[in-house]
Amino acid sequence: MILPSHLSVRGGHLYIGEHDTVALAERFGTPLYVTSEDRVRENFRRLSGALSAHYGKVRVLYAAKANGNLAIFRTLASMGAGSDVFSAGEVALALAAGMRPELLLFNGSSKSPADLALAVEKGIRVSVDSPDELRQLDRAAGAAGRTVDIAFRVNPAIDVPTHPKIATGLATSKFGIPAEEILGTYREALAAEHVNPVGVHCHIGSQILAVEPFAREVDVLIDLAADLLDIGVDLSFIDIGGGLGIPYRRETDRAPTPEEYAGAVMPVFLEGIRDLGIEPELWVEPGRWLVADSTVLLSRVNSVKTAHKTFANVDAGFNLLIRPTMYDSYHEVVAANRADAPAVREYSIAGPICETGDVLAKDRMLPELAAGDIVAMLDAGAYGFAMSSQYNSRPRCAEVLLAGEKAALMRRAETIDDLTAPMATPPWQE
Ligand code: LLP
Repeated sequence: MILPSHLSVRGGHLYIGEHDTVALAERFGTPLYVTSEDRVRENFRRLSGALSAHYGKVRVLYAAKANGNLAIFRTLASMGAGSDVFSAGEVALALAAGMRPELLLFNGSSKSPADLALAVEKGIRVSVDSPDELRQLDRAAGAAGRTVDIAFRVNPAIDVPTHPKIATGLATSKFGIPAEEILGTYREALAAEHVNPVGVHCHIGSQILAVEPFAREVDVLIDLAADLLDIGVDLSFIDIGGGLGIPYRRETDRAPTPEEYAGAVMPVFLEGIRDLGIEPELWVEPGRWLVADSTVLLSRVNSVKTAHKTFANVDAGFNLLIRPTMYDSYHEVVAANRADAPAVREYSIAGPICETGDVLAKDRMLPELAAGDIVAMLDAGAYGFAMSSQYNSRPRCAEVLLAGEKAALMRRAETIDDLTAPMATPPWQE
């Protein structure tokens, strides 16, 4: 078992930083998300440092959808990060965490009139995804007597090696404006009174374990920037999105390091802008890389059953971690209270949800498991809690944050009352 540097095995127990995961499970109950703030900080420093080593004008906009806990926003805000925001909720969280509006980019292909009005009111730049949205935003800004700085999201028609549900730069994707149509859209923006096109934005997909697609993406953006200069756009930023993958299968995945990512992307960018004679900021929007490995999901074994295979039935299911069910994703499993025992039996880790697909991990060789044992799912910090639900009327679990020796809740567990509180009784049922 290969563990990242913030995880270790001591006295047979899995530790995260200085904390025994088994003791955390006892203290806070299970299921439980546990996040190392120190690891998030380390990840931010590494990625941001790798890019900034090539160019002084790099901005990191955390892709908030990966993990929307306010404590994570605060951690990243304190390190100077901005945020890629997709909703009014993400805007509110980013601002509450102290991120300045000019460090945010309001993204998305389906923004409501209220979203556009919010961006105008708060002075947040918008990545516009269609000519229709451009016209609506121009009217909204005009009505408020303001001007909004915008980028357009380009669809670069780039195929990337990842799960089809998270490849976003395909020609057929719902995101962005096709590269061959986008000049006309910029011309319209230049002529509009209340929007000011100052950037270009792209995001090709997520969990990408190669660097070439990112270099190709930057190439597309530099070509576009040349055309934009010709029509009179004054480019202040080029946003290449997120998408750098992590090695969920540490034994076999070969994931690019941030230095390799920067080494592939930055020369193309730097040569491109030098030829064009411009010095725009480079924006990146990493989500997964900053937070995924910072977090483990702890669950307790309720029962063990041997049928056509052996199931360890645990108290966390796809209500709390949907990635295995939704994308066939792999998350490493550690028997947290028997972490140095030999792997002797093949288990499938199954959740408590009333669906056959509620299996968090298939056919893993693990130490002998019994009811009461604690199982840790690794790399659960990105798109884990963030995609959780109350399906099967299960309250969501708590989240704990660790910093050095300290451990505290960053979200309490929901209760049954939290399930019923927003429900209303139609008058005829009273
Ligand atoms: N920027 C934009 C515009 C995005 O749509 C995304 C992710 C990101 C940045 C961050 O990408 P990252 O660096 O995290 O790969 N739920 C899926 C992933 C969905 C990604 C959606 N967009 C999963 O669990 O794998």
